[in-house]
Amino acid sequence: MRVHVADHPLITHKLTVLRDQDTPSPVFRSLVSELMTLLAYEGTRNVRVEPVDIVTPVAPTTGVRIAEPRPLIVPILRAGLGMLEGMTTLLPSAEVGFLGMARDEETLEPTTYAERLPDDLTDRQCFVLDPMLATGGSLIAAIDYLLARGAEDVTAVCILAAPEGLRAVEEAMADRDVTVVVGAVDDHLNEHGFIVPGLGDAGDRLYGTV
Ligand code: PRP
Repeated sequence: MRVHVADHPLITHKLTVLRDQDTPSPVFRSLVSELMTLLAYEGTRNVRVEPVDIVTPVAPTTGVRIAEPRPLIVPILRAGLGMLEGMTTLLPSAEVGFLGMARDEETLEPTTYAERLPDDLTDRQCFVLDPMLATGGSLIAAIDYLLARGAEDVTAVCILAAPEGLRAVEEAMADRDVTVVVGAVDDHLNEHGFIVPGLGDAGDRLYGTV
C-alpha cells in the first residue's frame, strides 16, 4: 500500500477555507469539488491506459486512451458524493458505483446501508472517494468489499486524514495494491473520533444540516 500526501499551495489554501467554521454550505460544496479535481490529478497518476493509433492533421502517431474495463468510481455516501463531480470531470468515461456507509457515533464502527456496484469487479481499477479518513474503519471496510468482489487495484482519495486512521489502513492493506491520496494529514483523532483540527462533520457541512 502507498500513501501520497498532495502537497500543493492551492490545496492548502482551499483546505484552509474549508476548515473555517464560518464557511457556509454552498461554498463548502464548491471547495470540496475543486479540491477533488486537484486531488484527482494525483489520484489518477496510475490510471490504466492502452496505446491507440491516431492521425493528426500532420502525421500518424500513437497516443493512449483509458483502458478497458473502464475504471470504477465509488463515492462513499453521504460525504463522498460531494467529490463525485470533481472526479467525473477528469474521468468522464469511468463507471460510477455507490456504497452507503455510516459510522456509529458511540462505537465508531462503520455499517454499510446501501450498495449499488457492478456484480463482477474482476480486474477493475477502483477509485474510492471519501473526504474524511478518521479511524480508517469506513475506508478499510469499503476497500475490503471491493477487493473481495475481484477489484484489481484500489485508489482512495481523501481530503483529510488522521495519522491513526492512515496507520490502520496501512496495517490492514499492507500487502494489497492500494493507494491512498490525501490532501493533508492532521494532528490526531479526538475521543469522539473527529480529526483535529479537521473541518468538523463533512457530511453535515456539505448537506446543510449544521
Ligand atoms: C464520515 C466520513 C467517513 C467516515 C470516516 O462519514 O465521511 O465516511 O465518517 O470515519 P472513519 O475513518 O472513522 O470510519 P459519516 O459516518 O459521518 O457519514 P456521512 O458521510 O453520511 O456524514
